Amino acid sequence: MSGQIVIVGAGQAGVQAVQSLRSEGFSGAITMIGDEAYPPYQRPPLSKAYLLGTFARERLFLKPAAFYREAGCDLILNARVDKIDRAAKTVSLQDGRTLAYDKLLLATGTRVRRLACPGAGLPGVQYLRDIADVDGLQDGFKSGIRLAIVGGGYIGLEVAAVGAKRGLDVTVFEAADRLMARAVSQPVSDFYAAEHTRSGVKLNLNTGVESFEGNNKIEAVVAGGTAHPADMVLVGIGVVPNDMLARESGLPCQDGIIVDRNAMTSDPSIFAAGDCTRHHGREGIEIRLECVQNAIDQAKHAALAMVGRAKIYSEVPWFWSDQYDLKLQIAGLARPPDRLVLRGDPASRKFAVFHLRDGVVAAVEAINAAPEYLTGRKLIADGAKVPPEKLADLSIPMKQMAQD
Ligand code: NAI
Repeated sequence: MSGQIVIVGAGQAGVQAVQSLRSEGFSGAITMIGDEAYPPYQRPPLSKAYLLGTFARERLFLKPAAFYREAGCDLILNARVDKIDRAAKTVSLQDGRTLAYDKLLLATGTRVRRLACPGAGLPGVQYLRDIADVDGLQDGFKSGIRLAIVGGGYIGLEVAAVGAKRGLDVTVFEAADRLMARAVSQPVSDFYAAEHTRSGVKLNLNTGVESFEGNNKIEAVVAGGTAHPADMVLVGIGVVPNDMLARESGLPCQDGIIVDRNAMTSDPSIFAAGDCTRHHGREGIEIRLECVQNAIDQAKHAALAMVGRAKIYSEVPWFWSDQYDLKLQIAGLARPPDRLVLRGDPASRKFAVFHLRDGVVAAVEAINAAPEYLTGRKLIADGAKVPPEKLADLSIPMKQMAQD
């Protein structure tokens, strides 16, 4: 198939689409436009090894420069698309250029949610989403400084772990009554709370931030009615999808660009993939996933649909987080009425929590437990029913779980 494909957004989903389009035999022109200075890179290491200083910047890049050359992809960086003209099938760049498309892929990702409380604009109140953010954080990230973290989600806790490791005096303020509440179950929240406390991180749950104080730079975080001295603040309170471009062009959006299970928007010439989308997930509910898996798989499906070989997207979502020497791996999506089954002892720092829905394995959270994660993921994909007492029995190896 030939023609002109334009990809807006040079991240994980964008680069996957380039690769998949070529492997599916698309022979036309591909242009990818990104508003950052860098070619597509991995974000997960940013709040982990890259912040720790053990991961060189070059290793972040998803593909070498030669990949774009060989794939015949015209990569335009430092450029923003500010309008889609769906009737003319063109996109306009802020610098005045106009590009025509036959098919358009929106892979615009998310941006950080910002705090709007008094003092939120003070120097020293920082966010973490891109390379430049981490490079900006590194200057003040020194042993002994008081680091206040707002948000006990993935970003907040990964940074807390790196901070504690590098000798910073870390305090976390989390509005909810437990850590990572959006992503993990109560037992896993409790386990991580204990691990952070053991590493010297001070946790304040049920504590929203009221304001920041300081004279030209951050000096204190006011939370729970108390001023907590701080030299530096990292805010990690979630992200919002970059769906404005789609919204302004009249495509249906609702906390994300609405796509079907072929990653197609309501306009058959426009597709969307990754964190910026909302789709009807395999669990039967509308969902916006923020993860590498979704960026990769949805982009593959978008590429298939663009070349006329559409295939329904129904992959099991997976996530991971590295904090200290703990590898948290999650597959599937948990829901509060699920029955929880604990396998292993959290005190051993190697255990898993399975989620059963009507007896079927619906999700797994595995901590330093690769077999539980890998087999769990397969059980979820297969819609397998496993008795809870069998799942909990450590004398039965995971690979035997699917057998009667
Ligand atoms: P998040 O949604 O994981 O966590 C945000 C946390 O902030 C929640 O616990 C929430 O209750 C809390 N919060 C919200 N408003 C607050 C307030 N005003 N005061 C105090 N706490 C407040 O989002 P996070 O950690 O910012 O991550 C951003 C994005 O990066 C997400 O897409 C996440 O999936 C991704 N990410 C994923 C990682 C992974 O999979 N390991 C690692 C790092 C980031």
